Amino acid sequence: MQYRHDDHTAWSGLIDRESAGAALPIGEAVGEPARRGELTIGVVGCGYWGSKHVRVLPSVEGVGRVVAIDHNQRILDALSERYSCFGYSRSLPEVLDILDAVVVATPPRTHAMVAAAALEAGCHVLVEKPLATSVTEAEELVKLADRRGLVLMSGHTFEYNPAVWKLRDLIQQGELGQIFHVNTARLNLGLYQGDVNVLWDLAPHDVSILNYVLDARPSSVSAWAGTHAHRQVEDVAYLRLHFDELGLVAQVHVSWLDPCKVRRVTVLGSRKMAIYDDLAEDERIKVFDKGVAVDSVHHGAGSAESDDVGSRPAAYRQGGIECPYIDFEEPLAIENRSFVQSIRRDVEPPSGGRSGLAVVQILAAAERSMATGRLVDIDYTPLVDGPLLDGPGRPTTVGTAAARDTASSERRP
Ligand SMILES: NC(=O)c1ccc[n+]([C@@H]2O[C@H](COP(=O)([O-])OP(=O)(O)OC[C@H]3O[C@@H](n4cnc5c(N)ncnc54)[C@H](O)[C@@H]3O)[C@@H](O)[C@H]2O)c1
Repeated sequence: MQYRHDDHTAWSGLIDRESAGAALPIGEAVGEPARRGELTIGVVGCGYWGSKHVRVLPSVEGVGRVVAIDHNQRILDALSERYSCFGYSRSLPEVLDILDAVVVATPPRTHAMVAAAALEAGCHVLVEKPLATSVTEAEELVKLADRRGLVLMSGHTFEYNPAVWKLRDLIQQGELGQIFHVNTARLNLGLYQGDVNVLWDLAPHDVSILNYVLDARPSSVSAWAGTHAHRQVEDVAYLRLHFDELGLVAQVHVSWLDPCKVRRVTVLGSRKMAIYDDLAEDERIKVFDKGVAVDSVHHGAGSAESDDVGSRPAAYRQGGIECPYIDFEEPLAIENRSFVQSIRRDVEPPSGGRSGLAVVQILAAAERSMATGRLVDIDYTPLVDGPLLDGPGRPTTVGTAAARDTASSERRP
């Protein structure tokens, strides 16, 4: 892949100052021209989350200029007071010509449209979670990026979180023993989103965390969701994800309707148990040397088949609790660095388009289960025209035109 904008003198004046609004001090905000080889990155959608990208990107090595793009003039005005962006615009099409890459942080239902426009214009794209809100759209983005030889990355921020890396190490290195069960809780009072339900808003995080720490993808899902404060939009949801190849079931609980803010992943292993609490700043990971003497239940005196199957565990192990040191760095900074490195090295990012597609396939299957009350198999037929690897060294198991939302088969739980 080549950077498209070698002529770094041609940019000035390309930003439409009129469309950015008269009140905005565009001229003063314009920074230094980028050095040769440095990227000009546009952030489309500079609300709550996009403004964080605008804050982080300028300090990422390899980024020369950041352009903030939002329909909302007040947002651009506020940003211009806080950050020294290269430029501002109210419309992506007006500035596409000067961009090498685009971060899409608009509301979820607009992701596919905005990302496709950027890819069509030859820009590398990082799309916030979820990659898209339908399997068909997500597949189209992956195929478009493949055809154009461009980087497509999903903003699965937790895959760039050092605490999640630690949890993955604990699981993958066998520290916790055999994994019996994982459950996650992402709860709070709000924020009700305008264009998606709680499943598409919050569950992408937990599904991507589970896929990542277990290094596997679920085969089937059953889900339930309820509408409460809002009559039509689901605000509480539970997912049961069946990781058949691992012989375990993980549960995800997401809610906009809870009195307490909770961001927690609990892993129950045969040797130890671990909790990742994203709100516990200094002790995000806790490892509990706790367990039950399951042998006495399943393999003890009379074995699992014995008369004794109903007996309770004979012993509980109540060991210590460890909080491993985590060299924490803001995950969004790591994610953005990874995006830029993937572009410069011409490699698939860790959370590439295919891992975003897999998350969308799982959520679409969960939504189908919510509607039918059935267990839904998730179809991961490989994309026919895609590369064989999804992320470093990991065989891809996802995607293809056949794997539409409707293609997942259903069965009774
Ligand atoms: N990775 C994470 O941890 C994380 C956290 C929060 C939100 N998000 C994601 O970030 C995205 C944005 O969420 P938010 O909470 O910041 O929403 P938000 O409503 O605060 O911001 C969205 C912004 O996009 C702008 N916008 C919409 N369509 C546009 C278009 N076509 N062109 C230009 N601007 C446009 C709106 O004016 C608004 O300012 C969502 O996809 C959400 O899922 C990710």
